[in-house]
This record gives sequence, C-alpha cells and structure tokens, in this order.
Amino acid sequence: MLGARPNRSIFIPMSTQPSPHTGPRPGPQIAQRLAYAASQSARVAWFFGQYMLAARLNGRTRLQRPPEGPVPDTRAILEELRALLARDLANIEAGYYRLPHDLVPDPRRILADAAAFFRDVPEVQRRRRDRIATEVRANPPPGSESLPAYYRQNFHFQTGGYLTEESARLYDHQVEVLFGGGADAMRRQTLVPIFEHLKTRRVADCRLLDVAAGTGRYLTFVKDNHPRLPVTALDLSAAYLREARRNLAPWARTSFAVQAAAEAMPLADDSQDIVTCIYLFHELPAKIRVQAAREMARVLKPGGILVFMDSLQYGDNPAMDGLLDLFPQAFHEPYYAHYARDDLDALFADAGFRPRTTSLAYMSKLLVLEKP
Ligand SMILES: C[S@@+](CC[C@H](N)C(=O)[O-])C[C@H]1O[C@@H](n2cnc3c(N)ncnc32)[C@H](O)[C@@H]1O
Repeated sequence: MLGARPNRSIFIPMSTQPSPHTGPRPGPQIAQRLAYAASQSARVAWFFGQYMLAARLNGRTRLQRPPEGPVPDTRAILEELRALLARDLANIEAGYYRLPHDLVPDPRRILADAAAFFRDVPEVQRRRRDRIATEVRANPPPGSESLPAYYRQNFHFQTGGYLTEESARLYDHQVEVLFGGGADAMRRQTLVPIFEHLKTRRVADCRLLDVAAGTGRYLTFVKDNHPRLPVTALDLSAAYLREARRNLAPWARTSFAVQAAAEAMPLADDSQDIVTCIYLFHELPAKIRVQAAREMARVLKPGGILVFMDSLQYGDNPAMDGLLDLFPQAFHEPYYAHYARDDLDALFADAGFRPRTTSLAYMSKLLVLEKP
C-alpha cells in the first residue's frame, strides 16, 4: 500500500477457478458471487480510499533509508488484491468456508470506526514524524509495567500501543486500511487447512489455540465456520482480550481467553489439535521468535498442525520487496527487518515441526506445519 496512488478500477472478477476439493456441496453460485463481488468491491473502495486520504493528510514520510527493492505501483497492488479475492471466492464456492459473516456491515459501526481512525491520524503522524515509539513506557497504562520491554512500544506508531481500550477498538479498522481492505481475506486463507484438518475429526473434541489473537476478529471467522470447535484466544494485551471477548460473545460457551506470552504459554503439553498464529512473528525479537515456535510445538498434540501466517519475506514476491523496506519505517516495526530475512524453515524445523505447505496470499505468506 505504501507508495500507492488512486485507481478507479476496483472490482472483483466474477469468474474464478474452482479448486480441487472434496468438501460440502457449494450453494447457489450466481447469488453468492454477486453478493461477494458487491460487498468486497465496496469494502476495498472504502478502506483503500481511507488509505489514500490518510496518506494525503500525512504528507511525505521522511525515510531513513530509501527502498532497495522495487516498489509496486497502485495497479500492481490492486492486481495482487484482486487475485487474493478471486481465491477467497473460489474457496467459498468450493465449500472450504462460508461467505464473510459481515457481508453487509453495520453502517453505524463502520462510520464510527472511520471517524475515530481519522481523529487519531494526526497523533500517529506526529509520532512518525518525531520517531517517537515509546510513549507507552513514559505513560504506562495501568497494569502494563510488568509486560516485556520489547512489547511496550507504540507498534505502528499507534496510540496506546497494544495496551489500551481505544487501541483495541481501532485496531481492526487500522489493519484493514493498511491492507486496502484485504486483511480479512488474507486471514481467511488459513481456514482451508483448518477445514482439511477437521473434516475427518469430531470437531467438538478438538481444540484450537490462536496465539496472539488480538481482538479475536480472526476467531470470529473460525467460529462462524466451526461453531462447535472450542477455541482459545491467547494474547499479552488485557485490553485486546476484552475486545476479543466482546467479538466472540455469540460463541461465549466455546471460546476462552488467556492473557499470556507466546514464549511462555500456561497450557499443557500435547493439548491442542490446531495452533494458529497470525501476524505475530514480525513483531517479536529474534530470540523470542525461537521460544514462541518451541512453545507452539510443545502444546500441539502429535499429528496436530500449526497454521502460521505473517508478512511476506524478501524474495517471496520480488516485485513487492521494496514495500518490505518501507513498511517498518512508516509503521514502527522494530523487529521487522530481521523477520523479513529470518530463515523460518530452519526456525520451525529446530522447534520440531515438519513442513507441509507454503503459499502466498497478497502481502502475506501461509505456512502449514505439523508436529510429527
Ligand atoms: C499485529 S497484531 C496481530 C493480531 C491478530 N493475530 C491479527 O490477525 O490481527 C499482534 C498481536 O500480538 C500480540 N503480541 C505481541 N507480542 C506477543 C507475545 N509475546 N505474546 C502474546 N501476544 C503478543 C499483540 O498484543 C497483538 O495483539
């Protein structure tokens, strides 16, 4: 999204390749395609438009280092986004998961979120301009003093870091703006290996743990598709977990929240069938990444799977490499440069995992690994 300029041709293709699959029979396809195309096109226009407007209000970001790799233009970014949404629709049509549960969003909520986002833009820009990223240490929100120092920062230059109710309330909107409306669709790609893993098992007897669950939005997609699956949201942020409880209220009897660090989880060995971990590793120092991977292997049952999604790394999609140079400068991400070159295959192999599949989804990559 960095460096992107407006483009009017935001639409979702109506023809997609069906994927080979043995899932439930898909529903009436034309109505589904129309609903999907209308809602996702509106969504991309809404969030992409806010990205462009915020970028205009912010003016030029002073870079500490110019990008070394190529920076894609708007057309190339929208092409990648369109491919992601086409895959998302193909997965829905193949029966891997349902249409997004918020196909028709609540207009009051989306307007309120946009207003709150733009009220906060000048504060974020002030931190970006002055390179201030430790406000949350200078004025620690109650209860945050005992959290690890690497964590007590204003990630993304966002107000409150991950430590306040206001930040938790704004987070999902901010992420969607950052990805031009593609964040949920990227996360939904993880529902395919989850479907495959659960299809031969009694869902109510399985356990899914989402490490660094944030506001629980991702888990709402998991629960919408697997309502009987018991899920645990684990995160270091008490405020984000409160938001997660609100988001998961419709499934309160089968959703649990644990405030803990990914690198020291208070969960039993061999207790989980599926561990998911989305957009955490690029925010961890290298040493903590290694510990977190070991912990995820420890709590998984033998034969269980880790479904891991995070940012692209250098070379995954060379046309995007310049964005990986720009992102950590514009959105305070102190560990990203190391993450973007880290050897994830070796890291997970050392933790005891066996790789199954690797795929790319727009600005993310998805690894599926198993505990032998
Ligand atoms: C970029 S957000 C990702 C949230 C969510 N998974 C998503 O898809 O949007 C990173 C999350 O990781 C949490 N986090 C960061 N370091 C952590 C750690 N060591 N242990 C547990 N959670 C952590 C933060 O509180 C935040 O909710």
